[in-house]
Amino acid sequence: MPAYHIAVLPGDGIGPEVTAAALQVLDATVARLDDVQLRYEELSVGAGEYLKSGNPLPESAVERMRAADAILLGAMGLPSVRWPNGVEMTPQIDIREKLDLFNGVRPIKLYHPAHSPLKGFGGAEGKPIDFVIIRENCEGLFSERLTPRPEGRDFETDTMKITRHGAERVCREAFKLAATRRGHVTLVDKANVLPSMAFFRKVFDAVAPEFPAITTDHVYVDAMALFLVQRPETYDVMVTENMFGDILSDLAAGIVGGMGMAPSADIGPAHAVFQPSHGTAPTIAGQGIANPIATILSAALMLDWLGHPESQRGARMIEAAVAATLAFSAYMRGLLAEPRSHHHRRSHHRRHRRPLTVSRFSPCASSISLCPSDPVCAA
Ligand SMILES: NC(=O)c1ccc[n+]([C@@H]2O[C@H](COP(=O)([O-])OP(=O)(O)OC[C@H]3O[C@@H](n4cnc5c(N)ncnc54)[C@H](O)[C@@H]3O)[C@@H](O)[C@H]2O)c1
Repeated sequence: MPAYHIAVLPGDGIGPEVTAAALQVLDATVARLDDVQLRYEELSVGAGEYLKSGNPLPESAVERMRAADAILLGAMGLPSVRWPNGVEMTPQIDIREKLDLFNGVRPIKLYHPAHSPLKGFGGAEGKPIDFVIIRENCEGLFSERLTPRPEGRDFETDTMKITRHGAERVCREAFKLAATRRGHVTLVDKANVLPSMAFFRKVFDAVAPEFPAITTDHVYVDAMALFLVQRPETYDVMVTENMFGDILSDLAAGIVGGMGMAPSADIGPAHAVFQPSHGTAPTIAGQGIANPIATILSAALMLDWLGHPESQRGARMIEAAVAATLAFSAYMRGLLAEPRSHHHRRSHHRRHRRPLTVSRFSPCASSISLCPSDPVCAA
C-alpha cells in the first residue's frame, strides 16, 4: 500500500487555517480509499519562520521537501515583514525556483451563478466559466528579483527573461492539458511591445504543430483582462509568463467567487507543490472566516498528481463533494465575503465563525459531503 510522504507548509496568516481544513478533508477521503495512505510532515517556512530564525526558507526544510512525494502549502508572507530593500520575503516563489516547478496550473471554475459578480454565468441556464491558466513559474518578470543590486542608484530595473527551454516546456504542458479538455490553447502575451514576448510567441507557434488536434489563438494581456470579464466562457487553457499569470489569476478568481475559490498546482520534473492561489489575507487571519475551498481543491489536485488510481479516485471524490456543497446557495455566504465595514465584519463573523470543513459524512463510502459547522448551513 503506498504511504505517500506529504510535506505540509501551513505558512502565515490564514495559511494554517485553510491547511487544517484541507488536511481534514484529505483524512476523510483517504479513510474511504483502498491502498493509499498519507504521512504528513509539517515544516515551518514563511515570514513567521523568518521572525524566529532569521531565514524564511531554511535549507533543511527544502531538503525535507525534496524528500517528500508531494508538498501541500497554505500561504506565505506578511506585508509587515520585509527585507531591507523594501520587498517582502517570498519563500513560496523561492520554492518554485529551487524545485524547478515551472508549470503553474490554475484551474478556474464557477460552481454557482451567485458566486460570480458577472451576470448570466453558471447554473443550468448560464454560460459556464471553466478554464485553466498555465503560468510559467521560474522565469519571466520575476526572474531577476533576487539578483543583488548596487545600493543608492537612481533607478531600478526588472528583467523579463524568456528562454527557449522555459517557453517550450510550459507551452507543451498547456497543449497536453488542452488535449484532456476542450482542445484549445490561448497564448497571453505582450508581443506587440516587448521583444521577450515576441520571442515567447515564436516559441509557442513552433510548439503548436506538435499538437495538430489543438486549436490556438493569441491575446495581448491587456485585452485578456477585458475578455475575462466580458466572455470568460470562451477560454479553455491559457498559457502566459510569470507576472501576467500572477495578475490574471487574481482577476480570474474574482469572477468565480474570490481568492478562496482558486486552487493551484506548481509542477516540475521531480516535485510538485499544491497551494491556493491566494496569499495570507492577514486582515481576516484568525477569525475563522477564510474560505478553504481553494486549498481543499489544491489537495484534490495533489491526489490526482500522485497518480495512483485510488488517490485519483480520492481527487474525484473531493471535487464532487465541493461541487455538491457549492450547489447550495446557503453555502454562498461564507464564500464571497470580504468584510466591507466594521458592522458587516461583525455580523459576518457571527454567521461564519468557523471555516468550511468536513464535519459530517454521507453514509455512502464513495462520496464525502462537506459542511460548515455553522448553524446557517446545518439547516
Ligand atoms: N502564494 C502565496 O503564499 C502568496 C500569494 C499572494 C500573496 N502572498 C502574500 O500574502 C499577503 C497578503 O497579500 P494580498 O492581500 O495581496 O493577497 P491575498 O490573496 O492574501 O488577499 C487578497 C484579498 O483576497 C482575500 N482573500 C484571500 N484569500 C481568501 C480566502 N481564502 N477566503 C476569503 N478571502 C480571501 C483577502 O482578504 C483580500 O481581500 C502578502 O504578504 C503577500 O505577499 C502570498
